[in-house]
Amino acid sequence: MSKIIALAGKGGVGKTTVASLVLRYLSKRGHSPILAVDADPNSNLGETLGMNVEKTVGDIRENFMKDPQGVPSGMDKIVYLEMLMNQVLMERKEFDLLVMGRQEGQGCYCMVNNILNRFTEELEKNYKYLLVDNEAGMEHLSRRTSGKVDMLLLVTDYALRGLRAVGRIHSMLGDLKLTVGNVGLVVNRAPEKLGITFMDEVTKIGIPVVASIPSDDSLLEFDMDRRSLIELPDDSPAVTSVDLMMEKVLSTINSGTKAP
Ligand SMILES: Nc1ncnc2c1ncn2[C@@H]1O[C@H](COP(=O)(O)OP(=O)(O)OP(=O)(O)O)[C@@H](O)[C@H]1O
Ligand SMILES: [Mg+2]
Repeated sequence: MSKIIALAGKGGVGKTTVASLVLRYLSKRGHSPILAVDADPNSNLGETLGMNVEKTVGDIRENFMKDPQGVPSGMDKIVYLEMLMNQVLMERKEFDLLVMGRQEGQGCYCMVNNILNRFTEELEKNYKYLLVDNEAGMEHLSRRTSGKVDMLLLVTDYALRGLRAVGRIHSMLGDLKLTVGNVGLVVNRAPEKLGITFMDEVTKIGIPVVASIPSDDSLLEFDMDRRSLIELPDDSPAVTSVDLMMEKVLSTINSGTKAP
């Protein structure tokens, strides 16, 4: 069964950056096949991976809802939707990318959602690792019928507000239809040593810190040049921290032990 690594946290704290570096680690170490799922309606994982995303699962859903009769004559609608979904899946040598895109508008989406969800869950079975970049509410994950995450990485910047957002996500996990095997805290743009006030709050929330990622100017340079973060050099500080974190994460999720 594929191992699922998911990321969540407040807006702008670095989820997509960390997701790209996790993907960089998995693909450079040959842990393929990997499926990256961009489950943030304001998706930008494709951008940080240097990919030009033209269509999303949300587009398929909206187009189908606008024109349910648009299915080519003689074609079953399930077959038709699956054909469109295959066009959304972006295949690369090291990994594939599926962009969920916008969430549904008003109306009854049950039928089309069921077909799309079933397709996604069938598709996911083909991969060794699944990496899901989420929005804070983790809508996408909570809807899955299998409802399992092996490692949930909660990302915060070095600020109490980011940390409290993580605390809220952590405390609502029980309300979701989701089994989370392990949770780890990723502190992004962290100083060399985390301060006492910050660590006191971490202790209150009760999630182990799995990575402290320093501020890294090369991330901004790559962003400006629209270069894929996969191409970052091995010795860039953010890459080194995420690589170290991933060693721990993989040994945790592949051995089935609880704490990272
Ligand atoms: N460690 C870091 N050092 C320097 N810049 C960083 C670092 N982490 C993230 N950034 C920059 O901060 C910005 C926001 O990061 P990112 O898009 O990964 O956040 P996000 O949590 O995914 O945001 P959103 O909620 O909008 O999806 C980006 O421009 C990124 O290049
Ligand atoms: Mg993002």
